[in-house]
Formats: sequence, C-alpha cells, structure tokens
Amino acid sequence: MRQWDRRLSEITVCIDRYDRERKGSPRWRQQYTLQVEPGMTVLDALHALKETQDATLCYRYSCRMAVCGSCAMLIKGRPALACNTQIQEVAGRTLTLAPMPNFDVVRDLVPDLTRFFEKHRSVQPYLQREDQEELENPSGEYFQSLEQLVNYLQFSYCIRCGLCVSACPTVATSDQYIGPMALAQAHRYNADSRDGGFRSRKTVVDSSSGVFSCHYAGECSNVCPKGVDPARAIQLLKRELVLDYLRLRRPRRPSPLCGPPEHAARFPDIPEPPPRTVDRR
Ligand code: SF4
Ligand code: FES
Repeated sequence: MRQWDRRLSEITVCIDRYDRERKGSPRWRQQYTLQVEPGMTVLDALHALKETQDATLCYRYSCRMAVCGSCAMLIKGRPALACNTQIQEVAGRTLTLAPMPNFDVVRDLVPDLTRFFEKHRSVQPYLQREDQEELENPSGEYFQSLEQLVNYLQFSYCIRCGLCVSACPTVATSDQYIGPMALAQAHRYNADSRDGGFRSRKTVVDSSSGVFSCHYAGECSNVCPKGVDPARAIQLLKRELVLDYLRLRRPRRPSPLCGPPEHAARFPDIPEPPPRTVDRR
C-alpha cells in the first residue's frame, strides 16, 4: 500500500450528477472539497459529503464489503466498487466520480438495472433437470466431485455488480447484446454437472445478440472485482456451441443422485452438521 501523503488530505471531488426533473440541464458536474483520512474508501467519502455538505447526493450501496454489488460506479474513469476502492490508491488531488457507462441513470450515481436483470433472467440462471418431478421435489442431496465443482466455481462468485457490462465495448455499440454478466452466468449453469439446461439456454446464447457478438476485448475480466473472468466464460460457451454444431459435444446427462464419495474427508475443525429436521429418503 502507498504511504499516506499528508498533503493530499484535502481533495476535490467532482461528481457527474443527473436529475431528470431539474430545470435547465438535467446533467451537471458538481465539485466538493473534502478532508480525507487514511483508510477512507470512496463510499466513505460519499457518506461524508452527503452528511456534511449535500443531502441531495444520490448513490446506491448496501453491504460496504464488496458483496452486494450495489455501489458500482466510474471512479477516475475506471469501473469499480466504491466500497472496495481506497481513496489514497486512486485520488491524488482530485477524485472524479460518474455513473456506470452503458446503463441508463436513475439519478446521480444510481444506474437503472432493469435491462441488466432482464438479460440475466433470459439465460435461465438456475439448475434445470429433465425430470420435472425430481426438480420440484428433490429426493435427496446432489453430491459433486471436486473436479465437477471446480468446473463452474469461479463463475459462481459473480455478485451482479454490472462493472463488466459498463466496461464492455460491444454493449456500448449494441443494446441488444446480452452482455458478459448474463453470458458468464449461462456458462456457470451449463458447466454444472447437476444441470441439463444447455438446449434451452442455447436459443438465447447462440442468437444474434449472444456470444458470437463478443469481440474478446477482455475489459470485462479486467474490471471484475471478484475474479469471475466473464471473457473466459464466453470463450468456453463459444467452444461448446461449435462442438455442438459439429455434433462433437458429448451429451451430458445431469448427474444422478448419489451418496457422498466413499473417501470423502472432513476438515477437522469443521463441526458436524446438525441432524436433519426432515428426511425425505
Ligand atoms: S462478472 Fe464480475 S464484474 Fe460482471 S457482474 Fe459479475 S462480479 Fe460484477
Ligand atoms: S456496498 Fe455492497 S458492494 Fe459496495
């Protein structure tokens, strides 16, 4: 971490604001002067401004620990989470903040996530099985090997913050493109050994606004705060679709119900789970 520079304890914060009901122009840039301290995050700075200087300032947040994905914005020109960005790492004498590009704005730094979540919904981001009865009323737990878990684990870390979408040059030119978050989630479920939804997701993923619109700029993976690597997920999806087209894709049946692996070892410090309250077997 950089040494704290006392001369930078007073900074200028420039915020791109938006209020559709404002007379004159709904967009304007506002400047504030703020005293900052070591350890202060961009989200802390926004709280301080709202509490002491401007109660009309709008931004979204919830967890303050890079888990909920609510505080995504453009910080000094780069998409990032406000709660996960130290001012001393980015600011210098001036900190510029703006809402995420590629999203409509509700107000100030608050993006409109309606389309984002519609696209997410369109890839059916949930486990599907051919056996509907088993899907509705699972008869037991579905165990996976470590290999099967590793196949999709990285992609399940997504917190739906939207930073990848805001950095994507393809989304910037086509509002129809499904985008890196939703496509990475399509792959997350396709790669899960318990899932059988490849065919039904294919209609969306392989459409004209699907994976083949991606030009592999890789910016989505650069800005992702959770290491999801959506660019990789999109390339893996492309591979699956090409193999499927060439009839070389091995049809994968959802893994059958089975007991835990025989030699499964428990970590010694993890306590035993409580007894089941309902036993369906
Ligand atoms: S893939 Fe990364 S950047 Fe994109 S929504 Fe998920 S966590 Fe955010
Ligand atoms: S407030 Fe939850 S990710 Fe920043």
